[in-house]
Amino acid sequence: MNSRSLSPTSTFDVYNSVTHACIATLTNATGNDIEAAISAATVRYYTPSTGHARQQMLIALHDQLTEHRHELATIISEESGKTLGDAMAEIDYANQYLSWFAQLAESMDAPIEVAEKVEVWREPAGVVGAITPWNFPCAMIVRKLAAAIAAGCPFVVKPSELTPLSALKIAEYTQNAGWDKGWLAVLVSNQNAAVGQILTTDPRIAKFTFTGSTRVGKLLSAQCASSLKRVSLELGGNAPMLVFGDADIELAVAQCVANKQRGTGQTCVAVNRIYVAASVAEAFTQALVARVSGLTTGDPLHPDTQVGHMITFDAANTTHNRVQQAIAQGAQVLCGGVYQAGSAYYPHTVLTRVQHDDDVVCEEIFGPLYPIITIDDTGLSNDAVMEQMLKYANDTQAGLASYVFSADNEVLAQCQRQLQYGMVGCNTAVLGNAAAPFGGIKQSGFGREGGSLGLDDFTYLKYIKPNA
Ligand code: SIN
Repeated sequence: MNSRSLSPTSTFDVYNSVTHACIATLTNATGNDIEAAISAATVRYYTPSTGHARQQMLIALHDQLTEHRHELATIISEESGKTLGDAMAEIDYANQYLSWFAQLAESMDAPIEVAEKVEVWREPAGVVGAITPWNFPCAMIVRKLAAAIAAGCPFVVKPSELTPLSALKIAEYTQNAGWDKGWLAVLVSNQNAAVGQILTTDPRIAKFTFTGSTRVGKLLSAQCASSLKRVSLELGGNAPMLVFGDADIELAVAQCVANKQRGTGQTCVAVNRIYVAASVAEAFTQALVARVSGLTTGDPLHPDTQVGHMITFDAANTTHNRVQQAIAQGAQVLCGGVYQAGSAYYPHTVLTRVQHDDDVVCEEIFGPLYPIITIDDTGLSNDAVMEQMLKYANDTQAGLASYVFSADNEVLAQCQRQLQYGMVGCNTAVLGNAAAPFGGIKQSGFGREGGSLGLDDFTYLKYIKPNA
């Protein structure tokens, strides 16, 4: 193990996103801690376990998350700035995956017969190394962990240094749930590159999984090549929302705002650009401004608050700079757009007169902005409008989520086929569902989390030729 670049003992502070008060000082994982975690996971991997036992582990963790929902939601809210309600929804989302993978765990024990004299088993891939982001401090760990444990893979995770307290709580809940040593190790550290280097190169780690930016995903994936790890990457998006002239405008607006309320727009599936047919652009825009302006702001821990804060002051400042840049490129701010320097709060901001090639459209915003691009549909058939919308929607290297709103089933069917994305929402902009395979194509990464084939990324197939 190459732990030379880790400092021997050092600490880092964790801050409340909203007040910037220090809420914890944690010790960075040392080389010895990481070695101990990977060794224990390796021993665990080679110790047989049944799918039934792992199913019970997942159910017990689900029960812990349910019992401690308020405690964990408060921690998530404090360290990430999301509202308490959003944090609770995140825990419920995580729990969906625990239930889902608990159901699948026993399937690992049954061989798959494919032909006479050919027996095929699904085997756990090995120890899993994971790096998880700050935008879902609980769900992005649990979604990967649940699949890994169901498959029989011990899990070593480095959570974001911005939100490590939720991860430590999850580890505590696994202990309460009676999980044996070795199944889960949480390595907290702000030495991201050094820990990432170890998790992507240690040969005892067979599978590496990452959720985060495309830039970092590419680096980590390249590092994994040295030991030929299995890799899955859930990376950045640039989700288009297509609103056709026959769409239910109230529904489209409600879905769009619900999408952007999650994590204050800081999700990989956040609507990034809204293409609206000109014939309904005014109605859509007015309804959007009305809904956004009616959102309740305030202390994220207050149960009535509907608008969260961003992860850091820097994130809010970057969002404001994007708005200024959009204005310089010709956009008009219809609501929001006012920023108090030194705050992690940024208002939901609706932008019109945006062009398809403006920076705010081409880049992933990761914030509560709604850039509206009007598509001329005067005297045009749905097919002609669709051609233009699809051309714009697919004009990106990202390929995670996309959304289409229309009353015409043929339009929806064509868009489902032609949108170059891993996920397409039809008359919805909220996709999360443990029964569905979550993941992208192109530079949004590869691999799928959830769904009936959700164990595949954590298993390999073993061919047995039975005794004749
Ligand atoms: C993400 O933003 O990385 C995940 C979003 C989701 O699961 O909905």
